[in-house]
Amino acid sequence: MTGKGVSYGVSKINNIIDVKALTKVFNGKVRAVDGISFTVREGEILGFLGPNGAGKTTTLNMLATLLRLTNGSATVNGHNILEDADAVRRSIGYVFQDPTLDLELTGRENLDFHGRLYGLERIVRLQRIEEMLEVVQLTDRADDLVKTYSGGMKRRLEIARGLLHHPKVLFLDEPTLGLDPQTRRSIWEHIQRLNQEKNVTIILTTHYTEEADYLCERILIIDFGKIVALDTPSKLKARLEGDVVSLVFKDPAVIVRIRPLLEEKEWIRSINVVASGNSYARMSHMIQMKRGMSVGIGIGGIIPGMDSGSIGGRGKIPKQVQQMLAKGMADENGQRGRDEGAKCLNLLVDNGGHRIPEIVKLVDEAGVILESVELHKPTLDDVFLSVTGRDIRDERGSFMEMARRHRIVQQARGRRIRG
Ligand SMILES: Nc1ncnc2c1ncn2[C@@H]1O[C@H](COP(=O)(O)OP(=O)(O)OP(=O)(O)O)[C@@H](O)[C@H]1O
Ligand SMILES: [Mg+2]
Repeated sequence: MTGKGVSYGVSKINNIIDVKALTKVFNGKVRAVDGISFTVREGEILGFLGPNGAGKTTTLNMLATLLRLTNGSATVNGHNILEDADAVRRSIGYVFQDPTLDLELTGRENLDFHGRLYGLERIVRLQRIEEMLEVVQLTDRADDLVKTYSGGMKRRLEIARGLLHHPKVLFLDEPTLGLDPQTRRSIWEHIQRLNQEKNVTIILTTHYTEEADYLCERILIIDFGKIVALDTPSKLKARLEGDVVSLVFKDPAVIVRIRPLLEEKEWIRSINVVASGNSYARMSHMIQMKRGMSVGIGIGGIIPGMDSGSIGGRGKIPKQVQQMLAKGMADENGQRGRDEGAKCLNLLVDNGGHRIPEIVKLVDEAGVILESVELHKPTLDDVFLSVTGRDIRDERGSFMEMARRHRIVQQARGRRIRG
């Protein structure tokens, strides 16, 4: 699956954003953004991938001139963010992380209000509103109150609003936060269309590795305010040579026992403890299931020896291992709940398919019960883990983060929240 079938014309080679040693220190002590430098080409979609508090929103806010930088410099569309803030603001659109629509107004009224703020003349404003409503396919709901919109419709309206003044650059801060997978995909398609048809340069922030992988030409991984990786998704993944074998244990406590045994094997390049399974693979599997495609046993629908897209070698998989792989797949098929407490060890190995029998034997001889075995090519989740030492799915799952996301989702759904 790829969403990056964009052909780049000559006009796309210029750097529309140029950031040098950008730094933000809050209250003299919190180094939210710590000397980051990067450029964005005109027409590019650049993804900021990072855990909570990494500095993504702070970076966007500085580039959008909403927050004053502490050190460094940046230009947006050729304008310096400190010296020419007005010109920067005219060049950008911003869809904020937290929803900011007026729920008591209609979609059209929300857009109209924004157009007035930007000083668009009536005729131009009305034309643009129609144009943008069409772009995000909300024309037929334009005169309904926003509180009657679905979460995805609201996000689309916010994107339309961000584009009303025809900005060269669009900042999307977590564009699909809290949306269901289907709505998320429809937003992705809108983002792609905007980029391709209107040549809008886009910086988006996300916690969803699959979103960054699908949409972005390059991904900037940010952690503790610093850039820890910046490259195309395929090059990032290619850094991790080999296959990832995920061992899911019924009892997380056994990990301490099994890990040293695995560490003795020189063909295992790295070992990481993660929450469970692999989200990208889960997603591609679910997509395949939805499309009614035939799916092989194992993660991502492929195991060695099954088809031309296999990972690792073509070794014969023992029945016992096949059963475990199949079990892993059943879990992907919506029955993961019972695995909630399960912990997983991710092993990076050459020829993962060939090594599985050996790994299973080792675990078995140690008297440890495996819940399932999963095999996949390195994904952005694995890349994230290797450069930050943390599992992005754990980062999404903290209590504070869940509470915050719950609030945003509730707002997106238009329910009344107390406090
Ligand atoms: N106004 C502020 N005053 C003090 N600290 C702040 C302020 N805004 C952000 N921070 C801190 O700066 C750091 C970076 O925050 P930021 O909002 O940029 O993170 P983020 O990567 O967008 O995270 P998330 O994924 O949760 O949205 C965090 O430690 C945050 O607490
Ligand atoms: Mg943020």
